[in-house]
Amino acid sequence: MTSNTEKKANVPYPRRIQSFVRRDGRMTEAQRRVLVELWPSIGLDFTKNSLDYAQIFGREAPRILEIGFGSGHSLLAIAKTHPEQDFIGIETYQPGIGTLFLGIESQRIQNIRVFYHDAVEVLEHCIPAASLAGVQLFFPDPWPKRRHHKRRLVQPEFVNLVAGKLRTGGIFHLATDWEDYANQMMQVLSACEQFSNLAGAGQFAERSAQRPITTKFEQRGNQSGRMIWELQFERR
Ligand SMILES: C[S@@+](CC[C@H](N)C(=O)[O-])C[C@H]1O[C@@H](n2cnc3c(N)ncnc32)[C@H](O)[C@@H]1O
Repeated sequence: MTSNTEKKANVPYPRRIQSFVRRDGRMTEAQRRVLVELWPSIGLDFTKNSLDYAQIFGREAPRILEIGFGSGHSLLAIAKTHPEQDFIGIETYQPGIGTLFLGIESQRIQNIRVFYHDAVEVLEHCIPAASLAGVQLFFPDPWPKRRHHKRRLVQPEFVNLVAGKLRTGGIFHLATDWEDYANQMMQVLSACEQFSNLAGAGQFAERSAQRPITTKFEQRGNQSGRMIWELQFERR
């Protein structure tokens, strides 16, 4: 048997197509320090067990999940504005988590916890059904080349997964600066019977006050002359 065949024979199932590539490059000393110091209190280690929110946050409050928060500037600002809510951020980019932790430390934010893991797996295994008041997905990787579109997060299966984690009346809030991805989001969400479009059928939403700051990726879109499309869908 060739080593290649052996390798193939040892793979138990095909790897799922991922929406991200690991790019944990350089971290600053400050990011490294804060990750080590704060992970025990803010970090959530991925396991295949459902989260116990009361144990994690020490209270019962509406919970918002942010997928792919980047460097977390927006998540930090939203969590600071809403101390009455609890936030779970998921990111696969470690330096970004470091930057968020620095903000949490300097601004003494209490209501954020973080996974360093693939959001799809976190949703599947860790988030209890109908337990979220909101899911935020701001400027997800657009994967602009057609052959990479399969890597885009917003696909029917993913949208169904999100729907199952939102409570009735919960909001799935999305934003992108890529027109064809915005149209894909509109199409997939409109086709999902578990959601209704708060802006009206086929309509994009106004810029929401729930996004108090312009993120790095939003700025990049603006600088390149791209429009911003926002969607808010309510769980039926
Ligand atoms: C284009 S950036 C946008 C970051 C941020 N939301 C903003 O607006 O500045 C997309 C982010 O999503 C993260 N990401 C992509 N797929 C992910 C996944 N499956 N789970 C967790 N994070 C993911 C990437 O690491 C990246 O930081």
